[in-house]
Amino acid sequence: MTELGEPGQFSAYMVEEAARVELALERAVERLDSSLKADVAAAVRHGVMGGGKRLRPILCVSAYGACGGSRTEGAYDLGASLEMIHAYSLMHDDLPCMDDAELRRGRPTTHRTHGEAITIRAGAVLIPAAALQALYACRHLGCGPEQTRAVVQELMSAAGAGGMVGGQWLDLLGEGRSLGAAELDGLHRRKTGALLAASLTMGALAAGAEDRVAEALQSYGRAVGLAFQIADDILDATESAATLGKNPSDADLGKSTYVSLYGLDEAKRRAAEQVARALDELGRSGVDAPHLEALARYVVAREK
Ligand code: IPE
Ligand code: IPE
Ligand code: MG
Ligand code: MG
Ligand code: MG
Repeated sequence: MTELGEPGQFSAYMVEEAARVELALERAVERLDSSLKADVAAAVRHGVMGGGKRLRPILCVSAYGACGGSRTEGAYDLGASLEMIHAYSLMHDDLPCMDDAELRRGRPTTHRTHGEAITIRAGAVLIPAAALQALYACRHLGCGPEQTRAVVQELMSAAGAGGMVGGQWLDLLGEGRSLGAAELDGLHRRKTGALLAASLTMGALAAGAEDRVAEALQSYGRAVGLAFQIADDILDATESAATLGKNPSDADLGKSTYVSLYGLDEAKRRAAEQVARALDELGRSGVDAPHLEALARYVVAREK
């Protein structure tokens, strides 16, 4: 594994980690294939495989490692469960009834290639598959029943009405309206922050971290999650489709974003504030985690 310290080593770390996540996702999709009709299986593959920063699994495995776990295949299998929820959320997010997007990760969106009906089904299939994937990973990591329950509960809570799905609903309700600061904060924390925070918590729980450490890592995850969505809003307002691999659309859709509410400079300041908070929480956790430190900075420094 690449260690940090020299310029360029963090990028090498991200590339290596993403490649290991890719292998775990390939294993997961292969297991799913046989229970699906060919058209749904192909849409699942399109939505899950090939592309994406794989940030949630990388955070999960980094937290698992920071809490004493070793980075075996099982750790990446656990990370893959988060990416399966994330991939489904993007497949549905891009549908005409949501953000109506044609481009994702530099390719046509799943519904553009596989049709809306199949994409909706492929997305839905990934929700229970992700829960089963987390169970499977916990078994391979040797987690006890209580640990396993806590890990799967964390994933499903973050994916659900109090997390990503609830946030997506608020996001749609916010179109064409100016949300207040507290409302927008709540929206971002749910639609993106919850799954990012769960990435850390699941890694910590699976490694059997003390409560104090798991809580500090979760707080780190919450701050990184909010910073991540603020950065997504900033990139949407400032970057091109060629760089992002997706079409900027927040202004056209009348979305409430950190940029529309606060303007670019203040949005950047708030993102940086969350990164500083994340680093404080990491310090409070007491774990030595240079990768998590670098990941917190990367979330706002990224170009896509
Ligand atoms: C995009 O997520 C959607 C948000 C939650 C902001 P990512 O920026 O992690 O997308 P990929 O997975 O790298 O394509
Ligand atoms: C989507 O937010 C968050 C999800 C839960 C999928 P966005 O709609 O801003 O994500 P992008 O910009 O399309 O990736
Ligand atoms: Mg959206
Ligand atoms: Mg979108
Ligand atoms: Mg966006």
